[in-house]
Amino acid sequence: MDSTESQKRFPHTYWHGTTNQTEIERLDALHHGIKTCLDGKSFLAPLENPQTILDLGAGSGIWAIECAENFPDAQVIAVDLNRMLPRSAPSNFQFRQLDILAEPLPLEADSFDVVHVRFLIIHLPNPRSLLERIARLVKPGGWLLIEDVTVTGEIKGDAPAVRAAFGLLCKYWESNGQVPRVSVELESWLRQTGAFSEVNVHEAVAPVGNAGAGDGASAADSESRQLGSTMKKSFRDGFSAETHPGLLALGFTPELKKQCMEEWDRSEWQMEFASALYLGTKVCLMFRSPPTTTQ
Ligand SMILES: C[S@@+](CC[C@H](N)C(=O)[O-])C[C@H]1O[C@@H](n2cnc3c(N)ncnc32)[C@H](O)[C@@H]1O
Repeated sequence: MDSTESQKRFPHTYWHGTTNQTEIERLDALHHGIKTCLDGKSFLAPLENPQTILDLGAGSGIWAIECAENFPDAQVIAVDLNRMLPRSAPSNFQFRQLDILAEPLPLEADSFDVVHVRFLIIHLPNPRSLLERIARLVKPGGWLLIEDVTVTGEIKGDAPAVRAAFGLLCKYWESNGQVPRVSVELESWLRQTGAFSEVNVHEAVAPVGNAGAGDGASAADSESRQLGSTMKKSFRDGFSAETHPGLLALGFTPELKKQCMEEWDRSEWQMEFASALYLGTKVCLMFRSPPTTTQ
């Protein structure tokens, strides 16, 4: 399905599609940026010999493919609404094209040791009911790994068009039932599902900008700056791509877009804007309660 078809069928979902090389490169770069904040790992959970791993909204497939390489005994399934561009993967990896919102969902409940969901929930409406649906896929005793962002941070500095662009993006998402502050809401939503015995949150704040490490900057500062610069590029690519019709209708006109791109690249914009724009990325690691036994 290309992005036009995808937009027609799923007006609320991810707009760019993952069937073009630029988008694949953007997602791969984001994957490597996230790993810098996770000590170079793809996940923080203490996974022990998982046999079944599911990656929902897998995009370029890079996370799932790395997982299949790291756990050669596991069956790793990557799922996405859009088809995945062919890339090299081990034989224990498979891709399935499906809509996570489909009724009924063609994935078996209680069947995955690990379910991974990165940057998907923010793109979908009714995230709380989606979480319930995702939680059901995790085996008792298994792990749900979620990474998502919040895009409502204050933008400081002289960047009116960038500020307007983020404002319109949030407005558009909200009009579709999406939640731009999803990463800060996730922990309580997850606890409220009652499905998890443990909810751990790892917070990585990524300042968007090009600020140098500076004297005395800690390793954590430099990692978060690195993530910030990856995120900045990622959002730039997102805003500069073909404009979503919903965003256009709200006022993200070609003129505003042009101005936004100019501001985005202007060096005097970077410092103040950077520190304020970003956006927490939270990694939530959840342990699902074992089933209660009846005597
Ligand atoms: C921002 S990308 C994230 C990709 C990947 N998880 C990553 O972190 O690199 C969101 C992905 O979710 C997919 N997606 C959006 N709506 C979906 C749906 N309803 N069902 C399955 N996948 C969906 C998109 O096609 C896209 O690949």
